[in-house]
Order: sequence, then C-alpha cells, then structure tokens
Amino acid sequence: MFLKKPKMDFKSNSVFDCTLVEINTIKDLSGVITIVENEPSTPFEVKRIYYLYDVPGGQKRGEHAHKELQQFVFAARGSFEVVLDDNLNKRRFVLNKPNLALHIVPGIWRCLDNFSTGSVCMVLASHIYDEGDYIRNYQEFQILKKRG
Ligand code: TYD
Repeated sequence: MFLKKPKMDFKSNSVFDCTLVEINTIKDLSGVITIVENEPSTPFEVKRIYYLYDVPGGQKRGEHAHKELQQFVFAARGSFEVVLDDNLNKRRFVLNKPNLALHIVPGIWRCLDNFSTGSVCMVLASHIYDEGDYIRNYQEFQILKKRG
C-alpha cells in the first residue's frame, strides 16, 4: 500500500525517489498469484499497460526520460536490469521476480539492459502514449534538469 505519494517535479526528482516495491502475492502449493490493483497497489492510476519481449541478446531499451509519465516496471518473466540517471546520480536495479516492481517517477533518464532469454518486461503507465512526453536526447535532458 502506498502511504506516500511521490512528488512530481521533473527537475528536482532524483533516482532516490524511484523505489522497488513488492507486489501483493498469494502463494500456495498450486502456484502463485500476484495482484496489482489501481491505487493502492500502484502510486498512480494505471492508464496503459505494455510489455516488451523477444529483446535480442545485448540489446538496450529505453534511453529516454519522461516529462510527466510515471511507470511501474517489473519482470513478468526472466530478468533484466534498469539503470536510472537524474543527471547527478545513477542507480542500477535488477528486476528478476514477477512480484518486484520498480516505480520510476518523471524526470529520470532510464536504460534497460541485460535482458535474459525469454524475459518479459511489463510496464504499467500513468498516461496513454504521448511522444511529446518523451525526452530522447541526453544533452537536452541534462539541460532541462539543470535549468533553474
Ligand atoms: P519506446 O518507448 O521508445 O521503447 P523502449 O523504451 O522500450 O525502448 O517505444 C518504441 C516505439 O514504440 C516508439 O516508436 C514508440 C512506440 N510506442 C507506442 O506507439 N506506444 C506505446 O505505448 C509505447 C510504449 C511505444
């Protein structure tokens, strides 16, 4: 359950505002169920779900930031890693369990790599797709994070 809503400021958000969250899971001898419910399991209302798979070995994904979009990212199958960068600090997260999600706030550059064979990256997003919300140029990202 999310007791603390993250601040939503593109410029001041840091990699330390991004957190690993254990998703509610029910396990018995017949298997496991992991349950995500729109608020309170997520810190935002989910408007879009997409998933990434068949990523060739050695391939990187992401390499962009978002102005407003928040995401909840988890490995529905297999594993991959996420490097977050706020232009000051970097953090690397390993996502390797279907009940372990990474909450990414706006204003964070992200790169996904080290996808295991057959992995599935599931993303719950706070907004519908909008190319205008992307920052795809790292120099532009750095300028926007610095602007006072
Ligand atoms: P992108 O978000 O750049 O992928 P990744 O971060 O995984 O590397 O999206 C790749 C392409 O897919 C890009 O042309 C935009 C398109 N796309 C959509 O049309 N809708 C979506 O919901 C998403 C996530 C991507």
